[in-house]
Amino acid sequence: PTRRKLIAGNWKMNKTLSEALALVRELKGPAAALPADRVEVAVAPPFVSLAAVAKELEGSALKLAGQNCHWEASGAFTGEVSAPMLKDVGCAYVILGHSERRQYFGETDETVNKRIRAVLAAGMTPIVCVGETLAEREAGRTKDVVEQQVLGALKGYQAAEVANFVLAYEPVWAIGTGRTATSAQAQEVHRALREQLGRLFDVGTAERVRIQYGGSVKPDNAAELLGQPDVDGALVGGASLKAGDFAGILKGAV
Ligand code: G3H
Repeated sequence: PTRRKLIAGNWKMNKTLSEALALVRELKGPAAALPADRVEVAVAPPFVSLAAVAKELEGSALKLAGQNCHWEASGAFTGEVSAPMLKDVGCAYVILGHSERRQYFGETDETVNKRIRAVLAAGMTPIVCVGETLAEREAGRTKDVVEQQVLGALKGYQAAEVANFVLAYEPVWAIGTGRTATSAQAQEVHRALREQLGRLFDVGTAERVRIQYGGSVKPDNAAELLGQPDVDGALVGGASLKAGDFAGILKGAV
């Protein structure tokens, strides 16, 4: 099957409300210029800007994503945001298990697994991030590490649910470093992940899951990465903060 590419901008902890609105205004045109049946575009602004950005994006093809969410729907969890809240403000996707969440905020495969349930229950799609550190890659453990992360995150989910998931392969050493995985390195891991999905579920499911690459994606390397057979999109950090750069990456998707 042909998988629709998903290019998502993860703004991380960047952009005030007014800056966020200015950026999405500039992105609407480039996003609208893409063939919608082949490329989907999403942005993940900080929580406080989501509602206003959603309003700005009414009628646009650009979709909204949350950068994380809690696994409970509501309750006494000071400082947290729930999946139903994200759905209510217009999110279609939620990024889960980003390496920065794992590294700085104690995220584990088990908590990613729980958050996925909340995202599905709220009617959204999870973008589940996995990736190895430099030390793990140099020790030849890349496949083991990412497969373990996938196993833990997807444990207990049915093939019919997983088929709609998005995975994001983000080698930690490539995030924010300017050091991109080569297209061959990305393709190798993406292929391994798809084969794992085939073993865990079935080949049909594996063929449907979209696997994004993330880690220093830029306008000048996007086309080559996105041209790999198992690279179904990009999760873009730094280069999603400037309209011109993100638009350049979108061009690389077609
Ligand atoms: O979620 C996005 C990734 O962490 C990539 O970030 O494009 O700044 O390397 P980056």
